[in-house]
Amino acid sequence: MTAPDAQTSAGTPHVAVDGAVLADLELVLGGVQLPWSHLGGGAASPVCDLADAGDNPDDRFSLDLRGAPGLASHLPGLDGAALVLTDPTSLPVARLQAVRLIPAREGLDVDAVSGTLTTLRPTTMRPTTSRPTTPRPPGDPTLPAWSRPAAVVVVVQRPLLRDELEDLLTAVGPGGELRVLVPTGPTPDGIPGLVLLDAVRSVAAARGAVEVDPVPVFWRGPAEDTALVEALADRVGSPAVVLGAEDPRWLAVRADVLDGRPALDVAAAAEPALTAWRPPVDRRGVVVFFTGFSGSGKSSIADALVEHVRTRTRRTITLLDGDVVRTMLSSGLGFDRAGRDLNIRRIGYVAAEIARHHGMAVCAPIAPFAETRAAVRRMVEQVGDFVLVHVSTPIEECERRDRKGLYARARSGEIADFTGISSPYEAPTDADLVVDTTGRTLEESLDEVLDLLRTTGWITA
Ligand code: ADX
Repeated sequence: MTAPDAQTSAGTPHVAVDGAVLADLELVLGGVQLPWSHLGGGAASPVCDLADAGDNPDDRFSLDLRGAPGLASHLPGLDGAALVLTDPTSLPVARLQAVRLIPAREGLDVDAVSGTLTTLRPTTMRPTTSRPTTPRPPGDPTLPAWSRPAAVVVVVQRPLLRDELEDLLTAVGPGGELRVLVPTGPTPDGIPGLVLLDAVRSVAAARGAVEVDPVPVFWRGPAEDTALVEALADRVGSPAVVLGAEDPRWLAVRADVLDGRPALDVAAAAEPALTAWRPPVDRRGVVVFFTGFSGSGKSSIADALVEHVRTRTRRTITLLDGDVVRTMLSSGLGFDRAGRDLNIRRIGYVAAEIARHHGMAVCAPIAPFAETRAAVRRMVEQVGDFVLVHVSTPIEECERRDRKGLYARARSGEIADFTGISSPYEAPTDADLVVDTTGRTLEESLDEVLDLLRTTGWITA
């Protein structure tokens, strides 16, 4: 245990924060005055620095329930007490003391807390990457590497393009220091932070004379991003150059990478990181996600697809069938909205892991809610491709088939919350393919799915 951890006393509530909220928290701990000037941060962030909020000059930091849903259950006993904020792995990050409750009020539609903030994290630990960071030059060891003063700071929203580093070094001049800050959150156009970091480090390593540091920044939107970069530049003491994600040369490179073509205009050393993330389509991670009523034919088509891919291609493939997942990953979960949401998110998590390793995952749950399906799509598209197949066999046909006898039991009231009978099904508007199995053979339905997968190149046989 390190010394700062010893400050976390038993009995102090621990509340986990993640993503943009954790990043904002680390920026504040690193001395950045966040630009969010209103308590709650509006759309920008659920955390903010209260320094210029006016009404609580003694409080440094506030956090609302959107930023930390886990706060809600601790709220009643928190006034005047302390709170430990942790990362998603439960490691303490900061302690909030002399907590004040700020009830929902005009301009802030959720409860929040504010208090004074102290770090609980040794800054030599890098929470956002498991890889070694740039060696720290002598100086104040408590400063996070990204926050130390620099002559020229470049904040990247995308990998470096061909000749770009040379141009930057020329602009800096001989003997000048160039520091590249790589945000740990996804880029504005969805490249994971670690992929960007790899791409930038490779280019810097090939050239030398450049320091690369990850920085806890999550992009939000043009106006917020500009304000965030200005706040960061203030902290580092130099103007920041932003290499923006909307650069047309980058957009061309991005299109090449996504389509599996060689990217000509990116710095040569960056290409391996990008192609490791998005290999050519036939070797890329892909999730084929079937959705539809119970008895619609999802499982049969999914089974046949898996059999086809196993016997005719070299791809690795995993089936995550609805009924099977419910006996393994999700045993004990119910069929209310929360149970279904969690079930689908678990399936999405596993499928995304499979895609990350460039495998193929075939999922076949009912997945009745559009929002949950969209969350899975977002998760998967960080690491691979996502194909949504709506097996649109009408409820009347599914009920007529009633292979498992469940519709009869749902009608009689023996099974509650049954999809299509007593629980809703939101038909997708974003399906890549719609297959109605009514009056068709399994082979005909399978052929439609195979055609789609072949046309795009996900499978070649
Ligand atoms: S989902 O809504 O969470 O996606 P999932 O695909 O895992 O559902 O499970 C659906 C299967 O569970 C159905 O094919 C059926 O065999 C069984 N089942 C049991 N109770 C219900 C219910 N209330 N609604 C729908 N399916 C149910």
